[in-house]
Amino acid sequence: MSEIPRGLFVSVEGIDGAGKSTHIDGLARLFAQQGRRVTLTREPGGTPLAETLRTLVLNEPMDPLTEALLVFAARRDHLQQVIEPALARGDVVLCDRFTDATFAYQGGGRGFDRAVLSQLEQWVQQRPQGLREPDLTLWFVLDPRIAAERLSQARVPDRFESQPLTFFQHVHMGYQLRCDAAPQRFIPIQADQTRELVWASVESALRARGVLT
Ligand code: TYD
Repeated sequence: MSEIPRGLFVSVEGIDGAGKSTHIDGLARLFAQQGRRVTLTREPGGTPLAETLRTLVLNEPMDPLTEALLVFAARRDHLQQVIEPALARGDVVLCDRFTDATFAYQGGGRGFDRAVLSQLEQWVQQRPQGLREPDLTLWFVLDPRIAAERLSQARVPDRFESQPLTFFQHVHMGYQLRCDAAPQRFIPIQADQTRELVWASVESALRARGVLT
């Protein structure tokens, strides 16, 4: 009987316009080529309930605590219905954003109390074995001014994309704080290069971490 591979939880982060979405499908293909089963998902979202919450969070006016509660409610459902079962089967879970986005957007961008976010993180992600967190986090790092230029050519903005530059500067600082607190988990990827060079950085960083054969 062949051994079940150990599940691997990879989150992908960055400010809006940093280009993370461009590389997620490539990452899924890369892991599949390695013979891994891949669960590709996103936050807020990933389950019918969490996708409903996503639509509310991205479109309806609400106060910062309500926003934080909704993203963590969505995360709880997503963890229980999708992420934990996939990791238990040995999948690579590729998640377009996770809790670092909450600390960056709600904590940094909105200036919401990080102690409350930490409390919610404990409630939602604590297991007997410890806090459920990604094994690796690919953080696409881009100057918020360049990201804003890229976004201005994009679609109709949601509640976050329509925020001013200073909001994204605070989001960026929020990510930096999380990166500084967990340097073994975070892989910063400099995203101010061509798509090919960014992809090459992603691949070589994953090889260096030993997650690609
Ligand atoms: P995003 O991941 O950029 O998806 P799309 O490519 O479809 O726009 O959009 C999700 C938005 O939700 C993004 O602006 C960040 C925000 N967000 C939070 O504010 N808090 C969170 O905890 C998460 C996961 C996302």
